[in-house]
Amino acid sequence: MIDISKLVRENIRNLQPYSSARDEYSGKPGVFLDANENPYGTLNRYPDPYQQKLKKELSRHKDITSEYLFIGNGSDEIIDLTLRIFGNPGNDKVMIFPPTYGMYEVSASINELKIIKVPLNDNFQIDINNAEKYFGDENLKVIFICSPNNPTGNSMHPESIEYIIRNFKGIVLLDEAYSDFSEKPSFLKKTEKYPNLIVMQTFSKALGLAAARIGIAITNPEIISYYNKVKPPYNVSTINQKAALEKLSQGIDYRKQVHEIISERERVAEEIKKLPITIKVFPSDANFLLVKVTDANYIYNKLVNNDIIVRNRSSLVENCLRITIGTHYENDLLLETLKNILM
Ligand SMILES: Cc1ncc(COP(=O)(O)O)c(C=O)c1O
Repeated sequence: MIDISKLVRENIRNLQPYSSARDEYSGKPGVFLDANENPYGTLNRYPDPYQQKLKKELSRHKDITSEYLFIGNGSDEIIDLTLRIFGNPGNDKVMIFPPTYGMYEVSASINELKIIKVPLNDNFQIDINNAEKYFGDENLKVIFICSPNNPTGNSMHPESIEYIIRNFKGIVLLDEAYSDFSEKPSFLKKTEKYPNLIVMQTFSKALGLAAARIGIAITNPEIISYYNKVKPPYNVSTINQKAALEKLSQGIDYRKQVHEIISERERVAEEIKKLPITIKVFPSDANFLLVKVTDANYIYNKLVNNDIIVRNRSSLVENCLRITIGTHYENDLLLETLKNILM
């Protein structure tokens, strides 16, 4: 059995968290003269620091109790908080599987943590034998797994993910930012079984609320209590909590949108495959395609000249562009422009 408290940094274990006015009084509404707020206006009150309404709705949507939920100011805040809780600056390490989402490495560097990089294999899958060599390192505290992975678009084999969770005695942060675009099941319910598993999701992709900055960590109540200890007291604004609640109440709409994006992804993939500039379209479980082309820099610039901006990922995967799936109209513009690029 993993003792989570032993993995937590000593200063965080002993931390006396900030106690806000809303922490100290959470009874029925009255005359609020406790938080130095302005008495006038509609956005004059501090937000609910624990986002209880939103968590209640999310708990229904995700079929998991509220005690397993933490809301961050985007997933990026959750990545940083996780490292602040578990990584001793200067001594501890994290593991990543590149090419992958860049913020794991940036956040680890900000927190002065060393980074063990175990590159994905030729099929963009985790090289378990190589990763496993480091599991005994007691300074290795957090392993980041991104599935579906950005920028490659594929999901990691579920057996590999579960193998790591079972055999690594530190924290596994599984980033499922794109899982709504995939048919592979989420690992979120497995947080009830594995105390070292944190599943991270976001409102920024399938739910279309990137502007609202709502990230979700799903994990056991012990880890949730550490997140609540280290987070800024009012980390999610009232406006953003409302936007997220509104989005959840339109359940059917966003699911229809996700279906539309998936069917566009398949159409765009088929069309791009036919082009002479294309070497390979990698299979995708996300809302983007990774495409290997004959000359990524040249094609990227040609697209920019036509006001179409994709992501040139050549520095991570040779001659590859990452193309986000847009509306039907936007995708047609992209395809038309690509067809007209002559090498
Ligand atoms: C894999 C992955 N995780 C997390 C994020 C960021 O999510 P958020 O907008 O919730 O900070 C991104 C954004 O591109 C991403 O690709």
